[in-house]
Amino acid sequence: MYRTNYCGLVTQSQLDEEVTLCGWVDRRRDHGGVIFIDLRDREGIVQVVFDPDAGAFFALADKVRTEYVLKVRGRVRARSAETVNAAMNTGEVEIYGVHLEILNEALTPPFQLDQHVVVGEDVRLKYRYMDLRRADMQKSLRLRSAVSNSIRNYLSEHGFLDVETPIMTRATPEGARDYLIPSRTYPGQFFAMPQSPQLFKQMLMVAGCDRYYQIAKCFRDEDLRADRQPEFTQIDVEASFVDEQDVMALAEQMISAVFAEHMDVDLGEFPRMTYAEAMHRFGSDKPDMRIPLELVEIKDLLADIEFKVFAGPANDPNCRVSALKVPGGATISRKQIDQYTKFVGVYGAKGLAWIKVNALEDGVEGLQSPIIKFLGEAVTLDIMHRLQAQNGDIVFFGADKSQVVSEALGALRCRIGADLNLYSCQWAPLWVVDFPMFEALDGGGLTPLHHPFTAPSCSAEALLKAPADALSRAYDVVLNGYELGGGSIRIHDQAMQTNVFDVLGIDSDEQRDKFGFLLDALQYGAPPHGGIALGLDRLMMLMLGSDSIRDVIAFPKTQSAACLLTEAPSPVASSQLRDLGIRVRKSDS
Ligand code: AMO
Ligand code: AMP
Repeated sequence: MYRTNYCGLVTQSQLDEEVTLCGWVDRRRDHGGVIFIDLRDREGIVQVVFDPDAGAFFALADKVRTEYVLKVRGRVRARSAETVNAAMNTGEVEIYGVHLEILNEALTPPFQLDQHVVVGEDVRLKYRYMDLRRADMQKSLRLRSAVSNSIRNYLSEHGFLDVETPIMTRATPEGARDYLIPSRTYPGQFFAMPQSPQLFKQMLMVAGCDRYYQIAKCFRDEDLRADRQPEFTQIDVEASFVDEQDVMALAEQMISAVFAEHMDVDLGEFPRMTYAEAMHRFGSDKPDMRIPLELVEIKDLLADIEFKVFAGPANDPNCRVSALKVPGGATISRKQIDQYTKFVGVYGAKGLAWIKVNALEDGVEGLQSPIIKFLGEAVTLDIMHRLQAQNGDIVFFGADKSQVVSEALGALRCRIGADLNLYSCQWAPLWVVDFPMFEALDGGGLTPLHHPFTAPSCSAEALLKAPADALSRAYDVVLNGYELGGGSIRIHDQAMQTNVFDVLGIDSDEQRDKFGFLLDALQYGAPPHGGIALGLDRLMMLMLGSDSIRDVIAFPKTQSAACLLTEAPSPVASSQLRDLGIRVRKSDS
């Protein structure tokens, strides 16, 4: 037997017992003839003391270095009152060492494991096994394991069957590029890795499975951001004979149960908001409801002014002109405003006009702004009136294509909320409903807002007549400004599915080629069904208060979708390529 106890769990109840511990050297200190070793394992750290009475083991203790792996036998004894360490779980005791074995030596660590030391992420990812030894990373792994357990229990208790679906499959359209796997047995042909198990879970409903779940790996080759990974995990759920209320209630209860159990947080009932309202008031379909700032439309007030920057968009139906009032924001410096102007530029905004409200009782004289001269006195005061502006406020303006203004001011709202710490609460969940079925593509045509298997909330006739106006039976769950999950009631009628493909401009040959199995299955008794998928990584990121998804994944990829630990992706042997019938084209340079 290697050990009797975990280092981090030795307590005073074991005083005078002999224990055997295994772990890593967190720190070794030599205090004039006595050697102290902080020995660490998964559960924490305990202090081990070797004095010269330990003979050869004392000499050996002198040789150990940081991160060596040790096996120590010793007696648990109380620390003297002045050496008690209240910051440690085991701070009241220490181990008086009588035996020591070095199980393995270690090179000098590439970085200090102290969690307060800031280490570059590239180094952390290259030596991930070292990084994961840090206490906060251990906490992250543990909470993730505990949360997945709770979710499995919850869904299992609610009658959901855990079914595994293939990783080697056909393309599943969720809007990203596919990761492809070449087939050796069918040269020139490829499997796609699933962007989600969407079509398989629908097949399981046709199969009479009734309630399915899976904690499923999904793969998407898309631009990465702080909350996205190319390989990520969904809590994927589907059920038959349900409507949107059933699915939303189930997901809401499950999320609430997880927060109650693991965070001691009561999320309360999740409010609901339509997509149109979310875009209008917050410029986002995933608004952070902790921030009490809103976009206000002022298009009608600007239609007749000379200033082209505002008058142009004010008279264009594809544009919006909005204002974002920040109470107390007049203290924001010019330098900061310049930074915000750069920030909204990323979203395509051509500028960021602003008005500071210093003394409203003095009329426009009491306002400070580069644009009042363009707006004129009457319009400026009308705007102030509509916004109910008060002394000490600042108002920002966006005038452009609707999407640019929404994205720019929507993001600015969140940025200022964070910069000025305007949060009105800690947790703000929200359901967003009544999404449009489609959105317009830049080059013309329509693309599904969710995925092409989502049922419209209108009739087939209405869908075909005005597809751009059709709403869907989709819902997203949002937490603190993150899209935590999304789902919908699906199309279970073959004719309706064909209509949607038609609207998307997928001709009947392509429909047969790509989705023949779905169109067939829908004709063999497909029940009404719907479901949802929650991003487990995003859930963990929120629960752990982290701002990077990489902190909640044991072995994440970098922003450029590489694994620094294993150095994947990597070239392969030419014989492997030959077997696969693949020739790599050298990029033209
Ligand atoms: P959707 O594409 O909205 O829906 O994905 C569901 C949830 O998965 C998470 N997610 C991601 N997390 C990390 N990195 C990514 N690249 C990433 N992409 C998505 C998000 C998101 O809300 N099949 C549908 C679900 C359904 O209709 O039931 C789907 O995949 O938290
Ligand atoms: P200009 O006349 O371009 O110097 O702009 C005057 C002010 O309007 C500056 O503060 C710009 O940042 C701002 N501005 C310019 N274009 C826009 C726009 N599309 N939306 C909001 N503000 C803008």
